[in-house]
Amino acid sequence: MHAVGIVAAAGSGLRLGAELPKALVLLGGRPLVCWAVEALRAGGVDEVVVAVPAPQQAAFTAVLPDDVHVVVGGDTRTASVRAALAAAREHADAVLVHDAARPLTPPEVVARVLAALAAGAAAVVPVLPVVDTTVVVDPDGLVTGDVARGPLRRVQTPQGFDRTTLVAAYAAAHGSAAEFTDDASVVRAAGIPVHTVAGDERAAKITVPHDLALAELQL
Ligand code: CTP
Ligand code: MG
Repeated sequence: MHAVGIVAAAGSGLRLGAELPKALVLLGGRPLVCWAVEALRAGGVDEVVVAVPAPQQAAFTAVLPDDVHVVVGGDTRTASVRAALAAAREHADAVLVHDAARPLTPPEVVARVLAALAAGAAAVVPVLPVVDTTVVVDPDGLVTGDVARGPLRRVQTPQGFDRTTLVAAYAAAHGSAAEFTDDASVVRAAGIPVHTVAGDERAAKITVPHDLALAELQL
């Protein structure tokens, strides 16, 4: 199986509030995007395409390894992944889509996703259980209901796909009004079953400054 990794790194990181795009922010002296690329490679991905913000393309090229393919992303994560997918080589059987914002993803998570694809899944996501009591609130902040958390899962990346399945799902979703926050939702909208493997707390997404501080402590 030949696997291409796509790293979505074209966001600006508004909630982190750094002066740089989030994927260029340093963790242990190394840009987040470089950690994400290495996690994919260490887990068994053969080549990597990274979607970056157009104004900082040169800055990304300067920090990424030479054999990483850099493409300009879009205004949404979906648009960024679409751009990277168009650049992914057609001889690849599998595509793993990963967030640059998940720098400390253990290679074992990547390997579990690849193993599920090798076993025949067309789509697979790493997941974790929900541990907090989970409720529904109305616009005034009043609790209106409980949610049974047993079947709930938090979805991480990398998310793995049969390449032709992902390409077809992205083509079908083009122009639709739906907003997708990940790639498995694009594939599920096309009617493809999405399998799960165990995620890992270390694959947590860096969204706000506290997340970056926690990641520094983990090093
Ligand atoms: N992403 C992307 N292209 C976009 C928006 C997001 O490639 N137009 C990427 C981000 O770089 C990130 C991942 O998608 O690695 C997850 O998005 P998120 O954590 O929301 O990052 P940002 O959009 O950069 O942050 P914020 O929403 O706080 O601005
Ligand atoms: Mg965002």
